[in-house]
Amino acid sequence: MPQRIVAGNWKMHGSRQFLAGFLASLTGDVLAKAGCEVLLFPPATLLPLLSAQAPDLGIGLGIQTVHPESQGAFTGEIAAEMAADVGATWTLVGHSERRQIFGESDADVALRALAARRAGLRTMLCVGESLAERQRGDAEAVVTRQLDAVLEALGDDLATGGIAYEPVWAIGTGETASPEMAQAMHAMIRGVLRRRSERLAEMPILYGGSVKPANAAALFAEVDIDGALVGGASLDPAAFLAIIRAMETHGNP
Ligand code: PGA
Repeated sequence: MPQRIVAGNWKMHGSRQFLAGFLASLTGDVLAKAGCEVLLFPPATLLPLLSAQAPDLGIGLGIQTVHPESQGAFTGEIAAEMAADVGATWTLVGHSERRQIFGESDADVALRALAARRAGLRTMLCVGESLAERQRGDAEAVVTRQLDAVLEALGDDLATGGIAYEPVWAIGTGETASPEMAQAMHAMIRGVLRRRSERLAEMPILYGGSVKPANAAALFAEVDIDGALVGGASLDPAAFLAIIRAMETHGNP
């Protein structure tokens, strides 16, 4: 049975003051008792601050992207080893904003996943088709290509991480894939993983794209949806907690 995960991707949001308020609203050991793994991907500036408190809160920490190299003249970039040094145990790779805005190719994403492995970070590999690709009927081919690029590089080593299916047209738009549509893609992804190994088939497959308290339960009831990668709603502690509770109530046993 795949691990169930609810993860928050804060993108380029958050200050020390925001973080203090966020943590203050997580009363007691509510996350430690969550019944699923809870991860946060804050901006890198907040990682050292959060890592001092995250273990007590039961939160796993990740960085949003890493550079392929471990060090060097790459102004503005952060190495996987540096993220690990300040307490990250996970990294996102291949988020659609990295692919679309920063031009990361499948090959670039694979190099970043290799860097994560080198530094001992677990990888949350994001895949997903654009609206035009879905309308052309290419959604499955695009997602398969994105998966294969990283599976070719890492093979079974990817199994320590997770997959996040995030259709680009659903990210930050308020549009969500219907639970049936998401389930169909998750089952397809599981099939791609299973053709490679049973270990890979056990990876958690998260859905991302406008997940909110109102739609989380229906998504989590689907058999191949093992959690959520939450953007906007993860910045609101009440909404993030409600999504975690929906996982406890409606997630697969
Ligand atoms: P969203 O973002 O929940 O704001 O749509 C999801 C993501 O990009 O991970």
